[in-house]
Amino acid sequence: MDGTRFRRTIARTPLAPVAAFPKRLLRVARHDARVLSVSARWLLTSREHHNYTYDLTRLSREHLAWFVSVLTDTPVKQVRDYLAEIESDQALRQHIERTTATSARRGLADRQVRYARRIGWYAIVRATRPAHVVETGVDKGLGTCVLASALLRNAAEGHPGRVTSLDINPEAGYLARVEPWAGVVDLVIGDSIASIRALDRPVDLFLHDSDHSAGHERNEFEAVESKLSPDAMLLTDNVTVTNVLAEHAERTGRRFLAYRETPARHWFPGDGIGVAW
Ligand SMILES: C[S@@+](CC[C@H](N)C(=O)[O-])C[C@H]1O[C@@H](n2cnc3c(N)ncnc32)[C@H](O)[C@@H]1O
Repeated sequence: MDGTRFRRTIARTPLAPVAAFPKRLLRVARHDARVLSVSARWLLTSREHHNYTYDLTRLSREHLAWFVSVLTDTPVKQVRDYLAEIESDQALRQHIERTTATSARRGLADRQVRYARRIGWYAIVRATRPAHVVETGVDKGLGTCVLASALLRNAAEGHPGRVTSLDINPEAGYLARVEPWAGVVDLVIGDSIASIRALDRPVDLFLHDSDHSAGHERNEFEAVESKLSPDAMLLTDNVTVTNVLAEHAERTGRRFLAYRETPARHWFPGDGIGVAW
């Protein structure tokens, strides 16, 4: 009896689970060893303790390009150009590296610039050219800088816009307090719900990325509803954790889509972009 026939015969007997055990053990051990090695390297080389940064895998980046293409009705080649535009923006990269290196919180930040799904935010702003973006949750200001860069490019092409960025922490946003990015950023310190209620201009693009509890996320979308321009787009950074934006989309008669990112060389499973429009 040859090897294949022998294996097929065993597979039909009560011995099958025992015979398959070594192969199964090897598979899971290989997987866990990879995870452990990535985690160990991260512990030794990164300083980040939350809001992790990383690059996307090539496949995940390509799926993001298609996601933005479908969402904004923009040719995927154009979206890929937008992704390349932010990734090759050396002025922004150098600014983030230098400012991080001298910031008071440099002990908890990496100098390498890695935007992850924020390149998708950039492409959405480039494709839709909003006059007013609102971002809740700023942290160091990495996303704010990415949004500001897109708005600056739009302005250079005749489509000016500003981003209002809301955070409860008065130290938030140090990356976004430097020109030229600061020129299109309005940083507002306070609880996001109160700050949203105080907005005095229509919002074209809203991004939730503050307190990631479902209750707070829901309250933000409810608070911003009366401030939205007719074709406004709502984004959430919380789409891998809650279904809040999908439920809001259904309640308000919008469409909904979700993209889940895959980080390259990182133990973190990744976040995503949820969108209602
Ligand atoms: C995940 S970080 C934001 C990340 C940022 N958007 C980026 O692209 O890197 C979350 C931020 O939300 C802020 N935050 C938490 N609760 C808040 C609230 N109730 N109102 C406003 N900001 C809040 C935190 O201070 C923190 O800076």
